[in-house]
Amino acid sequence: MNHETYHAPAAETGVDWDRVRADFPLLTRQVNGKPLIYLDSANTGQKPSSVIETVDAFYRQHNANVSRAVHTLGTEATEAYEGARRKLARFLNVRPDELVLCSGTTFAINLVAYSWALPRLKAGDTILVSRMEHHANIVPWQLVAQRTGATVKVAEIHADGTLDLDALYAAMTGDVKLLAITHTSNVLGTVNPVREICREARKRGIVTVVDGSQAVPHRAVDIAAIGCDFYAFTGHKMCGPTGTGALWARKEHLQAMPPFIGGGEMIKEVSFDGTVFNDAPHKFEAGTPNIAGFIGLGAAVDYLDALGMEKVEAREAELLAHATEELDRIEGLRIFGRAQEKAAVISFLIEGAHAHDLATLLDLEGVAVRSGQHCAHPLLQFYGVAATLRASFAFYNTHEEVERFIAALKKVRTLLA
Ligand SMILES: Cc1ncc(COP(=O)(O)O)c(C=O)c1O
Repeated sequence: MNHETYHAPAAETGVDWDRVRADFPLLTRQVNGKPLIYLDSANTGQKPSSVIETVDAFYRQHNANVSRAVHTLGTEATEAYEGARRKLARFLNVRPDELVLCSGTTFAINLVAYSWALPRLKAGDTILVSRMEHHANIVPWQLVAQRTGATVKVAEIHADGTLDLDALYAAMTGDVKLLAITHTSNVLGTVNPVREICREARKRGIVTVVDGSQAVPHRAVDIAAIGCDFYAFTGHKMCGPTGTGALWARKEHLQAMPPFIGGGEMIKEVSFDGTVFNDAPHKFEAGTPNIAGFIGLGAAVDYLDALGMEKVEAREAELLAHATEELDRIEGLRIFGRAQEKAAVISFLIEGAHAHDLATLLDLEGVAVRSGQHCAHPLLQFYGVAATLRASFAFYNTHEEVERFIAALKKVRTLLA
């Protein structure tokens, strides 16, 4: 089968995807003498020209610190920075004053761990996490457990990479104070029913932290509708600059939580007798933030909004279906993660070939895929494998790239046979 004969199963999106792809300058480059096929968007996403130009224009024309100076540049920078917060909030259907801007999901989850969990949890309490979590949604809870005497409990998955929901609900016992769960797995692609899960947790008085790193870039996310307590995500996977992300939290939590990091910007008044903290979200944003990055993230939101997240999701579903169909024809290839509700992430192994060797040889063919444990050691332990290859797609990939990736994979496999 070649890409001309491929019939996409999803509905036509009506978007000229070649034109969309042309918005991403990096995708035109060559790697090792071959046209780049970038299949590592779950790791970080590529950036459209509008984002790159917005960051460039900020430094060329508006650069100043935020929330400090009354001069024109200071006002422009502050307005653009706060404007980005408002755009993000609208995009995710939350209030801007409930959105703490930070360096990304890792920081966001640590903020909850140190500021919400550490002062509250004690011996006898339990933090529930799922088997499919990224280390960023495991290690902070282990650190909290070590310091409080609480326990971390694991909700298991089925072999097909879906959550065992019965086991999850059974694990929501009276000692569980917090549930940390991913919206979408970065290894399996599984999209978890977080709305239902948060409803069940809420009924039992369990506070919920949802890791949205792999969901926000790929589907329309309505945080208010999910009904969680905290929602963390990262900007660099959603066409934005690195070092950007946010934590959304219910206002009552933000008000009750002490600051995590102290310094400028997060105070109203400081004296040696005591300090009055700023209101949320600024209470949690000490020091000079990544101003250019967040303004760039605002441009990324504009870009995705104009494209339409439903169209992004439909496009990526087509690419996923195409790539899965082709990979399934390769003898000895095993895919990890067969959820019905699945993002365009495919982890796989080929019998007799090491993942790193395949990834290195694919790179020589211009194909960028990730190999390794994907910051999810416990998940790989569940499958009893040391590493997988992971091809992750974004709306800017093409069906032709899927075909070329498959051809390159077949070629490099024979080199290792
Ligand atoms: C599911 C998931 N959670 C958390 C993270 C951590 O994100 P960041 O490194 O941007 O903090 C990632 C990044 O790969 C991820 O995929």
